[in-house]
This record gives sequence, C-alpha cells and structure tokens, in this order.
Amino acid sequence: MKTILVTGGCGFIGSSFVKLLSAQRRYRVVNLDKLTYAGNLENTADLAGKDNRFVQGDICDRALVERIFKDEKPWAIVNFAAESHVDRSILDAAPFLRTNIGGVQTLLEAIRSCPVERFLHISTDEVYGDKEGQASSSEGSPLLPSSPYAATKAAADLLCFSYRRTYGLPVIVTRSSNNYGPYQFPEKLIPLLIRNGLNDLELPIYGDGKQIRDWLYVEDNCRAILSVLEKGQIGCIYNIGTGEERTNLDVAEAICVTIAERKKLNAKTIAERIRYVADRPGHDRRYAIDTSKVRAEVGWKPDVDFAAGIKKTVDWYLDHLDWISRVTSGEYRNYYESVYAHAWGKGQSAGRIS
Ligand code: NAD
Ligand code: DAU
Repeated sequence: MKTILVTGGCGFIGSSFVKLLSAQRRYRVVNLDKLTYAGNLENTADLAGKDNRFVQGDICDRALVERIFKDEKPWAIVNFAAESHVDRSILDAAPFLRTNIGGVQTLLEAIRSCPVERFLHISTDEVYGDKEGQASSSEGSPLLPSSPYAATKAAADLLCFSYRRTYGLPVIVTRSSNNYGPYQFPEKLIPLLIRNGLNDLELPIYGDGKQIRDWLYVEDNCRAILSVLEKGQIGCIYNIGTGEERTNLDVAEAICVTIAERKKLNAKTIAERIRYVADRPGHDRRYAIDTSKVRAEVGWKPDVDFAAGIKKTVDWYLDHLDWISRVTSGEYRNYYESVYAHAWGKGQSAGRIS
C-alpha cells in the first residue's frame, strides 16, 4: 500500500482529506501536524486505531521532516500545513512567513534529498487578488495578492515552481476558493456566524457586506485534490471552485434562515443581530476562478450546492456544540477582542461587539 504524507492533517481541510483517504483504504496516511490553535486531534479522532500514523511536529523542522521521509518513504506529500486566516496575518504576518514560505522550502529541500513521486501543494484563489469587475482568473493569470497571508501563499507557489524547474521536483499546485463545512475553526466567516447565531451574539460583517466569495463544500475540495493527486499532470496548477458566488450578506442571511428553521425561531430576529463593523484592511471585493481545467482533465465536479452545504454545515455545528466551546476557549477570546472589540488591534471600537 502506498503511503501519503499529509501535513496539516488536523486542520479543517486536511482532516477532511485524511478521512477521505482512510475511507478509501487505498493508502496509508502519515499525518504531520504542529497542532497550532487551528489543529485539533479531535478532528481526526474517529480514525484512532487505524493503520495511520500521527506525528506532532513542525514542517519547518528539517531534521524531523527528513526522518519521516526516510522512515516512511512516502509515495506523495500533500501539504495543507499553513497559517490560514487572513485577519490573523493582518495582526501579525511573522508566523505566516515562517510556516507558509519557510515550511514549504523545508519540504522542498527534504524532497531533494529523499525523492517522492508527487508533491501536491495546497494553495488558494487569493493569490490572484481582487477580481471585482474582471473576468475570472485562470491558472495562468498574474499573481496579485492583497493580504500578507495571500502574499505568503503566492511566494510558496513560486518557490514550488522554481524547485520544479531548477531541480526537477514533481510539483503540482491546487488553488481552491473558500471552503466551508464541518470542523472549520470559528474565526472564518461561516463558522463564526453560525457560532454567534447559535449563542445570541452579534453577527459581524466587515464594511458593506457586498464582498463576493465562491463557496466550495470541503468534501468536494478533498475529492478534487485526490483526483488531481492521482490524475493531474506534474508541473501544473489546478483551480478548484464551484462558481457559487455569494455576497457575505447572502451568506449571513442563509445562515440566519437555516438556524431559524432548525431552532424554530424567526429568521428576522436572528438577522437583526447583523452588525456592520470596521472593514478588513486591504479587503478584496471579489474572488472568481475559472475551473474548467480541473473539470476537463480529472473529471471532477462539485456534488454539494451552497443551499444544501449550508444546511449540512449548520446541522454539524448544532450537533457539535461541545467542539465549538472547546476550540473557542482560551486564546480565541484574545483574538476575537483584537479584531472585533478593538478593530484590528488598534484600540478603536469596531461597533457594538463586546
Ligand atoms: P487550518 O488553519 O484549519 O489548518 C491548518 C493546519 O496546519 C492546522 O492543523 C495546524 O496545526 C497545521 N499547521 C500550521 N502550521 C504548521 C507547521 N508549521 N507545521 C505543521 N503543521 C502546521 O487551515 P485550512 O483552512 O484547513 O487550510 C488548509 C490549507 O488550504 C492551507 O494551506 C490554506 O492556505 C489552504 N486553503 C484554505 C482555504 C479555506 O477556505 N479554508 C481555501 C483555499 C486554500
Ligand atoms: O479564498 C480562499 C481563502 O478563503 C483561503 O485561502 C483562506 O485560507 C480562507 O481563510 C478564506 O479567506 P477569506 O478571507 O475569504 O475567508 P473569511 O472566512 O475570513 O472571510 C470571508 C469573507 O467574509 C471575507 O470577505 C471577509 C468577510 N468576513 C469575515 C469574517 C471573519 C466578515 O464580513 N466578517 C467576519 O467576521
């Protein structure tokens, strides 16, 4: 059985991918994760006892990474490990440069000394920057990242392709749109609004709320990633998305309606808690990607549309209230205060959120 080294497999998308691989029983999984605030062993707890291996560690730790490569001789590496939240990169970019660029360079160097057949690096549509009023980005579109987070992701993509050209490494990159679904940390829009909606808290919307994102159910992304890993061409980039563009206000409304249905409440009463708060600095108005390549080359298409996906997601959070409480204790409180009570840590009030 081939071994796949998954990095960041205790985070939101990585844990969904590890579960997909485990369910397929065609690969052995070694999961390397540092367990930052965003990584949680609970996210993969249902795999305990299977023939997979978990290593707590840092992708920046060259000695550890090389030891795992030598011991496990993985067929492929899929790199999800990253600092992933734009707002945190605005508060402090340093951990983003370290993991998202330095960590990727460490993995690339380790592959030079212990070759693998595929290195699939997970990137993002944010590298293309703001597409307001423009055609959607194809894989060859220019990289114009706006946030420190997006800049580190773009830098990592460039590093990957420089190692492909210079050293012949077997690199593939996927760039997906906004994922949502179970186990997403409640700092991102959808789980944050669900958590606040379920707890009678205010629902913070940055700026005018008319920014547009393309929403992708996490399990659909993971199926796409596995198809690209198995059938994609080395040296290529694949955009992954649905074309399901929604404004942030549309998303907030869908969440209010679903919570109201489930809790037998009035959706308008929940929506009255929407608060316009200080905008994210440098906020991109719209992301939009052309996904025809992944559909044509590996035969992928999404299964879960936004209407169904948001219901599944609200239901999952309703069934996992303990998980929400656990992951939002401690450090989360300070983070929340920095962004929402004191806009971006500057000490100004962001609205009536306290
Ligand atoms: P996440 O923040 O939920 O999880 C990141 C995981 O990486 C965590 O388990 C964390 O412990 C681990 N990690 C962080 N630094 C590490 C390090 N130095 N060494 C080892 N492990 C480390 O992120 P996510 O939302 O699951 O995103 C996964 C990947 O997908 C990221 O690369 C992100 O840039 C990309 N992406 C995310 C989205 C999205 O909507 N969430 C969309 C497109 C691309
Ligand atoms: O596009 C892919 C990217 O999607 C990934 O690369 C990132 O890792 C992931 O975090 C996500 O980035 P976004 O910044 O688009 O996601 P976020 O959920 O943080 O925000 C979605 C939109 O909602 C964005 O326009 C900002 C807005 N927003 C977000 C939060 C947390 C609000 O209006 N209020 C909020 O409280």
